[in-house]
Amino acid sequence: MNDKLNRVFEIVKTHNEWRREECLNMIASENVMSPLAEKFFLSDFEGRYNEHDEETHYQGTKYSLEIELLTNSIFGERFNTKYVDSRPIAGAIANLCVYNAFLKPGDIFMSPGLTAGAHVSSTKYGIAGVMGLNSIDAFFDSEKFVLDVDNTLKLIEKVKPKLIMLGRSMFLFPEPIRELRDAIGDKIKIIYDAAHVFGLIYGGKFQQPLEEGADIITASTHKTFPGPQGGIIIARRDLDENDWRKIQRSIFPGIISNHHIHRLPSLAITALEMNAFGEEYAEQTVKNAKAFAEAMTEFGFKVLCEDYGFTESHQVLVDVREFGGGKVVAEKMEEVNIIINKIAFPWDTDKDVTQNPSGLRIGLQELTRFGMKESEMKVVAEFYKKVLIDKQDVKKVREEVKEFRKEFLEPKYCFPVEE
Ligand SMILES: Cc1ncc(COP(=O)(O)O)c(C=O)c1O
Repeated sequence: MNDKLNRVFEIVKTHNEWRREECLNMIASENVMSPLAEKFFLSDFEGRYNEHDEETHYQGTKYSLEIELLTNSIFGERFNTKYVDSRPIAGAIANLCVYNAFLKPGDIFMSPGLTAGAHVSSTKYGIAGVMGLNSIDAFFDSEKFVLDVDNTLKLIEKVKPKLIMLGRSMFLFPEPIRELRDAIGDKIKIIYDAAHVFGLIYGGKFQQPLEEGADIITASTHKTFPGPQGGIIIARRDLDENDWRKIQRSIFPGIISNHHIHRLPSLAITALEMNAFGEEYAEQTVKNAKAFAEAMTEFGFKVLCEDYGFTESHQVLVDVREFGGGKVVAEKMEEVNIIINKIAFPWDTDKDVTQNPSGLRIGLQELTRFGMKESEMKVVAEFYKKVLIDKQDVKKVREEVKEFRKEFLEPKYCFPVEE
């Protein structure tokens, strides 16, 4: 057989075995779908189009439209609104669609700021910069790891942003939405980028942005929400109809042509599974994050925000400067099959941010999906100790990690697959 074709097969097989069966995945922005959602991921929808506004512009779309509307209705029921659009093909694209709906080049908007955890799409380096928007960083309390409300309100008064973006990639604690909304009134839109915490919100175990005063949620559907990779926009039920129309026109004909229809059955299945098991999954995820943070602290690691209970989300942040910095440590841990990523903290310089930031951002959602509970968190934390503090032989620890992983190969919180 053709060598390159062979290599394609091999790459997929080895990757699958490695990441699915031999690694502990602790990247905070990833997850696995349920077996049922995976089963329905590949279908004829994969090759089809359904460009539409109020009207469809292609033929052959009756089922494409039905699956899209059905998916939207499941999220609509959960968030008590008719304003749901599942066409954005990624969380960053959902942000683009919202920015494009309400802002034009030169407009000022407020975002959390890169070293306070903003996603790059909401900064001058990403989509906001590409669109020519002027993003001003909110103030951040880098001890408590929450937005600094008093100083941010003064800044809002001064720069008068057209829109405020909340929600972060580095996200331990809820945003003070209610406080901001009460102080600024309803003139300025508050958008909440729920990419990371969407599964926790869906499961009712993190703040509920639309009930606390946010106008619109944007999210990824594949981080703590364990669906197919994609994006979604959800607005509060009493949003002005014209504002929703602006968002929809921004989606199509503005930004999205094909919307990867094949992911929608899996998205709908995941949402239905989350209706059944999401509360339990989200609760266990947060418990595991806290248990992992405690175990790491006991082993001597510098876990951030100990005085504030470490975390209320799926994430744990660890300052690893004493072990060589985030990049060095993340690479070291990959040698023992523990997959994590580096992250910049508020005190990092611009150079550190891109090269070797201070920290690790560790996510516990995927280990939770595979059935781990608090007692396993201690075992996992001990692997970090063995590698970084005890400096044990990497090959030996890797074998231990593989052995440990064997007990946790089936995703939980899922419907069974009928053969
Ligand atoms: C807060 C936040 N928003 C948006 C995104 C982009 O999401 P996606 O990768 O789905 O485009 C991310 C990605 O990690 C994120 O952390």
